[in-house]
Amino acid sequence: MRIASFLGQKGGVGKSTLARVLAVAAAHEGHRVLIGDFDLEQLTCVEWSAMRMRQGIEPDIDAQAFKSLKKLRKTVSDYDLVVVDTRGLADELTEDVSMESDVVFLPSGTSMDDLRPTLALARRLAKTRSVSNKIVIVLSKTGRSERLMQEAQDTISDAGFDMLNAVWPERDGFQADLDVGRAGSESSNPHLKQAAKDVELAMMTLALGWKS
Ligand SMILES: Nc1ncnc2c1ncn2[C@@H]1O[C@H](COP(=O)(O)OP(=O)(O)OP(=O)(O)O)[C@@H](O)[C@H]1O
Ligand SMILES: [Mg+2]
Repeated sequence: MRIASFLGQKGGVGKSTLARVLAVAAAHEGHRVLIGDFDLEQLTCVEWSAMRMRQGIEPDIDAQAFKSLKKLRKTVSDYDLVVVDTRGLADELTEDVSMESDVVFLPSGTSMDDLRPTLALARRLAKTRSVSNKIVIVLSKTGRSERLMQEAQDTISDAGFDMLNAVWPERDGFQADLDVGRAGSESSNPHLKQAAKDVELAMMTLALGWKS
């Protein structure tokens, strides 16, 4: 069993979305996957999983709410991959989850407003030696400016952190899919599907050592 977590200090950067994209990718490959939703106020992934079931979208993706890692540990033995979604803040749970994870994804926009707190969190988590080589920053909800993208990539590599080798582009169509229980490569739009597949492949490779 592997654990891939989505952590961050900021709200709205794409944690819950990328968690669902990864879970969908793993489920389509036949892996038994659970989303552990630690955002008890929003329960984004739990609500989405219920919507997915109501819409009859296959494969089902289990999502359960968890308050503590202890509960999660007791539940997860039946799964190949547990995708952990968390709240948009950095607290003790953030550190505990990072230590338990095989890969720690930190989604961030390209602006310094997003990158500064993301890198600050990355540095904090990296103080734990066993975590430092698991941290992967994911450029998320990116716009179309090549210059902003390049600057963000330079900022991340100057800070000495790894970056996912695909970005998650901002597109309205992804929202419409999420609202009806789909995610990522399940998009009916071929352009969105391809963009999602690139991110899926990159995340799957890190989460499960998977190659297409
Ligand atoms: N690539 C994208 N293009 C357009 N909208 C997106 C994209 N990815 C996510 N969104 C939208 O952005 C919003 C925030 O995304 P999401 O809920 O994944 O962020 P989050 O980091 O989990 O936020 P929170 O900290 O509040 O839990 C959602 O409305 C989601 O539908
Ligand atoms: Mg969320």
